[in-house]
Amino acid sequence: MIIVQDGCFALQTPHTSYIFRKDAAGNLLHLYYGEKIEIEEEGLAKVCEIMAPVITNQNGCSLIADTAQPNLCLDDVCLEISSRGKGDMREPYVELVLADGSSTSDFRYENYRIEESLLTPEGLPGAYEEKGNGQSLVITLADRNSKVKLELVYGVMEDCDCLVRYGRLVNSGEETVTVNRLMSMQLDMEAGVLKITDFHGDWAREMAKNETILRQGKYVNDTSVGFSSNRANPLFIWADTETTQEYGDCYAVNLLYSGNHRESAQAGGHGKMRILAGMNPDYLCWQLEAGEAFCSPQAVLTYSHQGYQGVSGQLHYFVREHIVRGEWKHKERPILINSWEAMYFDVQEKKILKLARTAANAGMELFVLDDGWFGKRNSDASSLGDWYDNKEKLPTGLAGLSEKIHKLGLKFGIWVEPEMVSEDSDLYRKHPDWAVRIPGQEHALGRNQMVLDLTREEVRNYIIESMSDVFSRGKVDYVKWDMNRSITECYSVALPSDRQGEVFHRYILGVYDLYERLTSEFPEVLFESCSSGGGRFDPGMLYYAPQGWTSDDSDAIERLKIQYGTSLCYPISSMGSHVSVIPNHQVFRKTPLHTRANVAYFGTFGYELDVTKIPEEDRNVIASQVETYKK
Ligand code: DGJ
Repeated sequence: MIIVQDGCFALQTPHTSYIFRKDAAGNLLHLYYGEKIEIEEEGLAKVCEIMAPVITNQNGCSLIADTAQPNLCLDDVCLEISSRGKGDMREPYVELVLADGSSTSDFRYENYRIEESLLTPEGLPGAYEEKGNGQSLVITLADRNSKVKLELVYGVMEDCDCLVRYGRLVNSGEETVTVNRLMSMQLDMEAGVLKITDFHGDWAREMAKNETILRQGKYVNDTSVGFSSNRANPLFIWADTETTQEYGDCYAVNLLYSGNHRESAQAGGHGKMRILAGMNPDYLCWQLEAGEAFCSPQAVLTYSHQGYQGVSGQLHYFVREHIVRGEWKHKERPILINSWEAMYFDVQEKKILKLARTAANAGMELFVLDDGWFGKRNSDASSLGDWYDNKEKLPTGLAGLSEKIHKLGLKFGIWVEPEMVSEDSDLYRKHPDWAVRIPGQEHALGRNQMVLDLTREEVRNYIIESMSDVFSRGKVDYVKWDMNRSITECYSVALPSDRQGEVFHRYILGVYDLYERLTSEFPEVLFESCSSGGGRFDPGMLYYAPQGWTSDDSDAIERLKIQYGTSLCYPISSMGSHVSVIPNHQVFRKTPLHTRANVAYFGTFGYELDVTKIPEEDRNVIASQVETYKK
């Protein structure tokens, strides 16, 4: 519920309240976020009066931005948003450079409106409510130094005690303005010390929980590789140092965004904390022309007084009910057998059918043909971009194979990596300029491949055409959409020099465009995202692909940590988890079959090993595991 009275605003959920107000000069003062305060509609102004900071004098370092408020130093109060240049020396929410080169903004309250729907940022994923429910509060602020307006958009998700937020800049002037930063969320709090929990890692080490006590200074969790990454997930949790799993104040923010992100906590000398989350401003420089608008991605924000478990349950519910869409939202996910660890690139129809038949006999429901089926893909050195059948491996092509798999009573799934191109590919030979690189300079290769320039429409159209063809000729029921390298030499030949700072963000907008078009064209297909394992495991991806491959590390013991970290925010229906062979291919550990299944049960279950080459006894155990999981 949204309550408004005399410039005071309260966002109420069953167990939380979020309260802010405008002051006499039009600054937005943040007053409260936490356990619910029951407020009558006509009582809000009174509550805000009690909560408002009493500012009676300046401190020795105060900077006074406005003579109308002689004691107000913006650095000393909790603000709903802040900008550079007017005395708030903390990290800002928004940063613009005007045509004259100046970078001081002074956003003041102009008006508000309430919309009877959940608004979402254009071109980006957004939380939704079923059946057009939902309300949004939009606060418009106007910059005193330019003709730029800033809309702060809030949505209230009552059933999970979550709020969603994003910002929208509108250039109503005649000159282009440079946007160097527009975060998704700022939260200023009265808190001297916080325990921050974030999730770091690397390949095969995703979602490693990391705890830091912040008393002074700044703590930053960010990524610059071009996607949300296995190095730092956008999930950011902060709590009282005494908070336990089940008790105490706990807050979390996550981003519906799959690109470079930054979350920070900054402690002030007088017991205030600022939390910011959004696109990583270090890699953003956006030209906002006259009449144009620019949105930051949506952030989801939640609070619980029931500790980490409270916050985690609320985020699970949020993802399941307000992010995951389409046919598979509430459907049981098929138990799958994946070919990767069973045969890697040595794909042969005969082997595939034997594996599929054995899996079907054990009760599995979906066969996924992983990498190695197309072009001349005998290793990772070639063929990404050439999405035609390799007839030596699949004599009757995807169409014939799919028919045979379906005849075994299994669904058929396929692996693709649409965003990439191998240097050794027909596509690259034909369109070398389609890859992200700087003309005339050497470029880095990752897994022998390059990133396609998704900022370009013709590149996206090629991908749509080739993927539509793969999905239809293979009559696929499931797609594993992989993405295996970071963006280096970030540059697009299709953009002018002053727009190169837009490439990272435009790339992700391109990814979302591809996902949106392909999921709409193939609504019945189950999509699973993957990025060398869990490198792009974020709410933005889950909006299109309801499940993600959690990690390339399939060792059950390693997985305990990885799946535990992931489970702090993401529901088990979103986590791909498979039983693999022993000795494990990543860490060479030998773990009993029942232990491997006991771990893999806590996700979207499957097998990723050659079940034709294990003892008969183990095959029987697998059949009973499949039965158990279905129950
Ligand atoms: C990386 C993925 O994480 C693996 O599961 C597998 O699909 C390989 N790519 C295939 O190249």
